[in-house]
Amino acid sequence: MSLWVVRGGSALSGTVSVQGSKNAALPILAAALLVEEPIELLNVPVIRDTENMLKILRSLGCTVKREGTALIVDSRTATGFTLPTALSGELRSSIFLLGSVLARFHAADAPYPGGCEIGNRPIDLHLNGLKRLHARIEESGGRIRCTGDDLKGAAVDLGYPSVGATENIMLAACRADGTTTIRNAACEPEIVDLQQFLCACGFCVQGAGTPTVVIEGVKKGHGASYRVMPDRIVTGTYLLLGAITGGDVTVTDTQPETVDTLLSRLSECGCLVTVHGDSVRVRSSGRPRAVGFTETRPYPGFPTDLQPQLFALLSVADGTSVLTENVFENRFRHAQELKKMGAQNRILDRTAIITGVERLHGAEVTAHDLRGGAALALAGLAAEGDTRIRHAERIERGYERMDSVINALGGSITRKEESIGEEKERRRTGELPV
Ligand code: EPZ
Repeated sequence: MSLWVVRGGSALSGTVSVQGSKNAALPILAAALLVEEPIELLNVPVIRDTENMLKILRSLGCTVKREGTALIVDSRTATGFTLPTALSGELRSSIFLLGSVLARFHAADAPYPGGCEIGNRPIDLHLNGLKRLHARIEESGGRIRCTGDDLKGAAVDLGYPSVGATENIMLAACRADGTTTIRNAACEPEIVDLQQFLCACGFCVQGAGTPTVVIEGVKKGHGASYRVMPDRIVTGTYLLLGAITGGDVTVTDTQPETVDTLLSRLSECGCLVTVHGDSVRVRSSGRPRAVGFTETRPYPGFPTDLQPQLFALLSVADGTSVLTENVFENRFRHAQELKKMGAQNRILDRTAIITGVERLHGAEVTAHDLRGGAALALAGLAAEGDTRIRHAERIERGYERMDSVINALGGSITRKEESIGEEKERRRTGELPV
C-alpha cells in the first residue's frame, strides 16, 4: 500500500506541463482493436489505468510497444475476445472494450465490472445500446457474453448522457452495417477526442460534443498517428494547488476551455485567473472566498471529477459554500477524511454544506478513490503539519507522478510503501483505528 506523507505550509508556485488525458486515452486504446494496422498514439499518460488497459490489449493478442508517453499498438495479432477477470475487475472502465471487441471479433466475453467506491456504476445503458445494434447479450455467472455476426446500425436513445455508454456504442457502430444515431449522447471533450481518433483511422463519425452523434459503419479502418488530448481534470487539480496554498501555478499544454467552469469558480473565490493560448495561470490573492452554490452536471456543467478537489478548497474558504453532487451517488467519502483534518462540513443526501476554516491540521487519512485522494493531497498541502495519506496508490491510478509535480512546485510529498504487517502493527498500537 502506498503511503504519502504531505508536509503543509508552503505556497506552491511554478509551471507544469499537463499529462495526456486518462479518460480520452482509455477509450482510444479500446478503439485500437477496430483497426488491423499499427497505430501510433502520443501523449498517453504513464499511469496505472493505462498500463492495465495495455495489459488487457496484450492479453487479447495485441502487440504494444511503449516509449515514454508514445505507443505503437498493433492489433493484427489479436485473436482473443475474452477479457481477463482480474485486470478488467481492477480497471472497470475496460467495459468500453465490449463494443470494440464485439465489432472486431463478433463476440466479446467480459466480467461484470461491478460498482466502485463512488457508486454502483450500472451498465444497463451500455448493454441496451449494444442490443439496439443487434448484439445478443447473455449475463450469467458474473460475466457478460456478447455475440453479433452482423451488427446493424440503429437509433439509440440514451436515458442518461453516459460517457462510457456513448463511447461503447460509438465503437460498436464503427464497423456495423448502416447508420447509428446516438441521441442524448454525452458531450464531454473526451468523446470529441475519440471521434477525432476514429476519423483519423478512416471511420465516419460526426456530432461528438453535441447530444447527437452519427456513425456510418465502414468495413474496416486504417492505421494512424494520433496525439491524445490534455487531461482537463489533472489541469484543474494542479490549478487548485496554487489556489489552496496561497501560491501561483501555471499549467501549460492544456485546453483552457475544457476547465472554464472551474476557472469561473476560482475567480469567484478571489483568485487571479489568466488564460494565454494553451496555458492557464492561477494566482492566489490570500484566503479564498466561499462560493455560494455549485452542482456537478454532465459536460458542459461543472465536472464531477473536480468536485472533491473543489471541496478541499472550499474547506479553507472564508464563509459557507454549498456543493451538490448530481452524477454519482456516493462521491463524498473525502468529507469524513477532511473532517479528521479539522474541516467543517455536513452532508445532506447529495449536498455538502461546507463551512470554511482558517487552517486545517495534519492527520492520518485514507484515499478512498482517485479524485478524493487528490483532494486530500491538496488539503494536506494547505494544512499545518504533516498529513499521512493511506492508499495513495489510488491517486496514482490517474495522476502521472503527482508527488514529483508537487515537489517541483515547492511542496513536500514523501512516498512510502507500507506493508500489511506494518499496517497491522499500527492498528495494534492504536495509531490506526481498528
Ligand atoms: C466516465 O465514467 C469517467 N471515466 C469518470 O471519471 C467520470 O466521472 C464520468 O465519466 C462522468 O463524467 C472514464 O472516462 C474512464 P457515466 P463513466 O457512464 O463512463 C450512470 C475519474 O475519476 N449510468 O457518464 O462510468 C452512472 O451510475 C472517473 O476519472 C447508468 O445509470 O460515467 C452514473 O451515475 C470517475 N447506467 C452516471 O450515469 C449506465 O449504463 C454517469 O456515469 C452507465 C452509467
